[in-house]
Amino acid sequence: MSTNIQIPSFTEAKNRRQKVRAAGMNPNYWYPVGYVGDVGVGEVTQVVFWGKRFALFRGNDGQLRAIEDRCAHRQLELSKGEVHGCQVVCPYHGWTFDGEGKLVDVPHELFEKPLPKLRLPDYAVRERYGLIWLFPGERERADQVAMPEIPEIEGANAWACVPVDFTWKAHHSMIIDNVSDFTHAYLHRKYEPFKNPKLTKVEVDDEASKVFVEYDTEVGAGKLYSHFIPREDADTGHMRLCYEYPHQWSNTDNWIKHWCLVLPIDERTTRAFFLFYYKQLKIPMLPVAIPRWLMTPILTVANRILMRPLLEEDGEAVEAEQEGYERHFDAPIAELNPAVHEFQRLTIAKWEEYLAERERQPNARRLPVMPSAPRQA
Ligand code: FES
Ligand SMILES: [Fe+2]
Repeated sequence: MSTNIQIPSFTEAKNRRQKVRAAGMNPNYWYPVGYVGDVGVGEVTQVVFWGKRFALFRGNDGQLRAIEDRCAHRQLELSKGEVHGCQVVCPYHGWTFDGEGKLVDVPHELFEKPLPKLRLPDYAVRERYGLIWLFPGERERADQVAMPEIPEIEGANAWACVPVDFTWKAHHSMIIDNVSDFTHAYLHRKYEPFKNPKLTKVEVDDEASKVFVEYDTEVGAGKLYSHFIPREDADTGHMRLCYEYPHQWSNTDNWIKHWCLVLPIDERTTRAFFLFYYKQLKIPMLPVAIPRWLMTPILTVANRILMRPLLEEDGEAVEAEQEGYERHFDAPIAELNPAVHEFQRLTIAKWEEYLAERERQPNARRLPVMPSAPRQA
């Protein structure tokens, strides 16, 4: 016999574990929603942030625009419509909205009424690092909030970087816990991306919404990876990581760096974009650096044979953790790594900050506070 079990919502949560697994992410930050090439001129697509749908479209001027993904007439999704010029047209009665969400045309009889004055919320969108970035919160704030700064992968001497991404059936906080918590070296015993980790520092900067973590560890010690790392030049015995809300990065001696950029889609779905970039890699067996022009094709291959299989191990683990959480959300907390406590504390604090702000400003753009779906147990 099965019963429906309700996973606690953020307000119902009885402890920090339940709270963090129900927390959303503050929409007043920049989030990656896809690759620049995903939306061509004249195309519209849907992106989702924490249950809220956005119609993202590129006009014939090449500019991307994002508005709420619902027609103001009968609430059909505009992402199912067409782009005409720099406007999006609903597939049902053809009502047409511009990039600011304003209704600009109704192509049928108006029954002697004026064109309704309707406007859907519009959102800030940018293209950078080969990614499309959305600011799902208040548009007016977008210019004041910095997106992750990754100077190494921009400009004439950019380091090579070939992003990989995954959509995992897991809450975003499980992914943040995973990427900066090296106690899971066991999971990667085949590839050994970090070996014998020892936590040496946890430092919280509440004002900047950052948690810094450091490990002494053998970085890239695995059979395959180790041949590409110029160990004579790079100190690969130490790694610095940071949960820089809402994303995460790591740095090994300014030689190997990465960002894990998250897009929380809903309570149990997260898309994660991994950007690994290297100052230099060497030709295996030889003390010779791989030339810059060869780095991109080599990284493309490395992603396929090394990075993807490695990160898929993490994906399987966090998806299994999500299932375990839903079955046993009442189990006692058994977390040893102090860094994980700090990641979770920051995620909860930022979500509480957003909810409190929303209370104070009832007109602020609302995101759905997702109800917990009943689950079969
Ligand atoms: S529902 Fe969109 S035009 Fe009618
Ligand atoms: Fe991992």
